[in-house]
Amino acid sequence: MERKHKVGITDTTLRDAHQSLMATRMRTEDMLPVLQDIDQVGYHSLEVWGGATFDTCLRYLNEDPWERLAKIRERAKNSNLQMLLRGQNLVAYRHYPDDVVDAFAKAVVKNGINIVRIFDALNDIRNMERAMKAVKAAGGHVQATISYTISPLHNIDHFVDLAVEMEKKGADSLCIKDMAGLINPYDAYELVEKLKANLKIPVQLHCHFTSGMAAMSYLKAIEAGCDVVDTATSSLSQGSSQPATDTIVAALRGTPYDTELDLKLIARIGEYFKKIRGNYEVPLDVGVDTAVLNYQIPGGMISNLVSQLAAQNASHLMDKVFEEVPRVRRELGYPPLVTPSSQIVGTQAVMNIITGERYKVTLTEVKNYLKGLYGKPPGQVDPDLLKKVLKDEEPFQGRPADLLEPQMEKAREELGEYMEKEEDILSYILFPQQAMALFKDRSKKGSASKNVVVSKEIQAKPAQAEAKKEPQLENIYTVDDTLCFSEHEKYFIYPSA
Ligand code: CO
Repeated sequence: MERKHKVGITDTTLRDAHQSLMATRMRTEDMLPVLQDIDQVGYHSLEVWGGATFDTCLRYLNEDPWERLAKIRERAKNSNLQMLLRGQNLVAYRHYPDDVVDAFAKAVVKNGINIVRIFDALNDIRNMERAMKAVKAAGGHVQATISYTISPLHNIDHFVDLAVEMEKKGADSLCIKDMAGLINPYDAYELVEKLKANLKIPVQLHCHFTSGMAAMSYLKAIEAGCDVVDTATSSLSQGSSQPATDTIVAALRGTPYDTELDLKLIARIGEYFKKIRGNYEVPLDVGVDTAVLNYQIPGGMISNLVSQLAAQNASHLMDKVFEEVPRVRRELGYPPLVTPSSQIVGTQAVMNIITGERYKVTLTEVKNYLKGLYGKPPGQVDPDLLKKVLKDEEPFQGRPADLLEPQMEKAREELGEYMEKEEDILSYILFPQQAMALFKDRSKKGSASKNVVVSKEIQAKPAQAEAKKEPQLENIYTVDDTLCFSEHEKYFIYPSA
């Protein structure tokens, strides 16, 4: 057969795969022993950082995410490292000022990330531009991303227009991010074919297996010219994760798209993670999700809805909530369901059903969304809802981050002696309590070996810092943690991104 193009593979095992199947809980120590093997495979890139991993390191694992990155970089000498960045939200849940975005982009590239995949939950390019510029300025590869969704207004031409705009803004490659596993094989073919016809940059497809269609969609996308696809190690694949690397590599073997990767080596890595998986309580099974096919609700979001209803003793209302989610989404102008819009839509739907009256309680996040503080909704927002919530107030039309004051210098002062490296400021700005807890722990360990008296003195600082920091937390558009986390750890999961 005539050689067409060698398909590249991005291995998501150390980021999206365990985020999707293990609530992002894989510890660095479980990643390191196999990294040299992974590095030898010859992947297009390794997705190892960003998304929810930053938060989880600080919140649950008592790990410094920057140290994780350094350790990975040290062992994966030959591979491109890749991360996922939520545009102006970075790796958290609200918009950050431009000085923080600039510093974060600079820091990730400096610490060894080569490719930064940048998306915005509303596909509002204004929320991506600053990060794109900053990554580029730092010398990184900008992978601009379309958050794929299905709605009356999200047709193929809409996505192609968006992609062309992203290329104009300096994207080095384009990713179709199908976080819910919604794209069917024939739409994947048509979308990639049109993207390839309209773009000069490479096109990459990122699917979740959730609906069971992902491997078929990859195949059709590859036939249409897709340059790179995302897969995960066999033992952490399928379900709400990516298709297995082995499957795709084997399917393409001897074809014009052969990846030329070593299946035996790939299988050995899968064996390693099979053992590692036993170290954790894995909350979800890896079957095909029917709710995503019928209601377009992503897998990660379902587990959130289940836990929210269980907490209210209202599990019997699940079917009603499934039907309410698309209704709320329509009223909000069809946002793609990805962090943070998935939490906002899902929680409002739960409220609407539990209270027995739609919008009897309107979430602060929904109000802020309607005010334009997350960016521009993709479609028309329901006029009655807008009037009910905003009364006579006009929605903000500008770029949300333009409302924010610079934050770096203030945070630097607040951190004071706790700062050991420049990156600490970023951890502190994104997750103040969690980062501070880590720093306190770190300085205690450090001072325990040196001088106990010093630690007492240092401890006076954070109390002050925390008191000062409180007003900042009232920032206009936070997505409250309660939307993302269940009290019951076993249900905790981040909806896709
Ligand atoms: Co994903």
